[in-house]
Amino acid sequence: MNNPNAENFLEIRGLKKYFEAGNSTLFSRETRQIHAVDDVNLTLRRSEVIALVGESGCGKSTLGLLLMGLEDPTAGTVTFEDQDITHLNDTQRKGLRRKIQMVFQDPYESLNPTQTIAEIVTEPLLVHGIGEREERVKKAMEDAGLKPAEVYLGRYPHELSGGQRQRVVIAAALVLEPEIIIADEPVSMLDVSIRAEVINLLADLRISRQIAVIFITHDLGSVGFFADRVAVMYLGRIVEVGTMLDVLEKPQHPYTKALLSVIPVPNPRLRHERIILQGETPNPINVPSGCRFHPRCPAAFDTCKLSDPPMTTLTKTHQAACLLVAGSK
Ligand SMILES: Nc1ncnc2c1ncn2[C@@H]1O[C@H](COP(=O)(O)OP(=O)(O)O)[C@@H](O)[C@H]1O
Ligand SMILES: [Mg+2]
Repeated sequence: MNNPNAENFLEIRGLKKYFEAGNSTLFSRETRQIHAVDDVNLTLRRSEVIALVGESGCGKSTLGLLLMGLEDPTAGTVTFEDQDITHLNDTQRKGLRRKIQMVFQDPYESLNPTQTIAEIVTEPLLVHGIGEREERVKKAMEDAGLKPAEVYLGRYPHELSGGQRQRVVIAAALVLEPEIIIADEPVSMLDVSIRAEVINLLADLRISRQIAVIFITHDLGSVGFFADRVAVMYLGRIVEVGTMLDVLEKPQHPYTKALLSVIPVPNPRLRHERIILQGETPNPINVPSGCRFHPRCPAAFDTCKLSDPPMTTLTKTHQAACLLVAGSK
């Protein structure tokens, strides 16, 4: 059921996922926990594209899996069209699958090599007992840029290029007519030359099918300029969120500034001095006290070791979690 109130589309509140990491020492009883997702708050509007950006290991994929119900959250809630989808039974979860689909990073792994493209794209319809399969498969394939569909139907994954395979994965997601696609690094395994094509495809889909997209990437430079908003994630937490312009032109969090500084940009207005982050790569088992970014932060001061900065509102659209933003220095 379509909810006209766009604000109540997808709401993530206080979402956490801690994995057990085994005992800290052989004789210790204390189990250590991996804080993969650690208090994430985010709202997605209908047919909105959000880029979720952060370096490898910061919890992006886990967040996607939580939204899909493929991982159980440790705490927090996710509501979709006013329904709490945090803990669903199998039947309810299956119903939701039609509306929220995920496209994974590796099109080679996501496709069964023994099935034809027709079988792969038809399978979700069979699972959900949906009829008019031929027309739906053809439309999904053509919307995913596999035109004319007849050329591809009888082929096997190994007969296609990497870009075409990723289009098959997208077609298999589209065939259920979802309202949200979570695209987890959908272009990072593809040649640079075809990345733009796949990004443009996702951009077209949000217009032609009004699909909302959570575009997960470790590379702020590949956000593709099709995202409406950008959420920057660090060690399980969103540390800055804003419109594309907010984040690219007025980044506030020192981590966002560091990510931006290393992207090659043709526009001199956006060019920054390269900020090379110091310190060890973050470890989600030992999350630093205070601001979790402070050991690597070029702007940190003493208070940052003690105080965990909340998200501070800069404008109606732009928020960041940094004491410098809060103006306390
Ligand atoms: N099933 C799991 N069991 C234990 N640790 C996990 C599991 N899945 C992810 N992690 C850990 O959680 C953290 C976040 O991982 P992930 O969500 O894959 O990050 P990203 O997608 O941003 O690279 C990493 O430290 C990763 O090793
Ligand atoms: Mg990942």
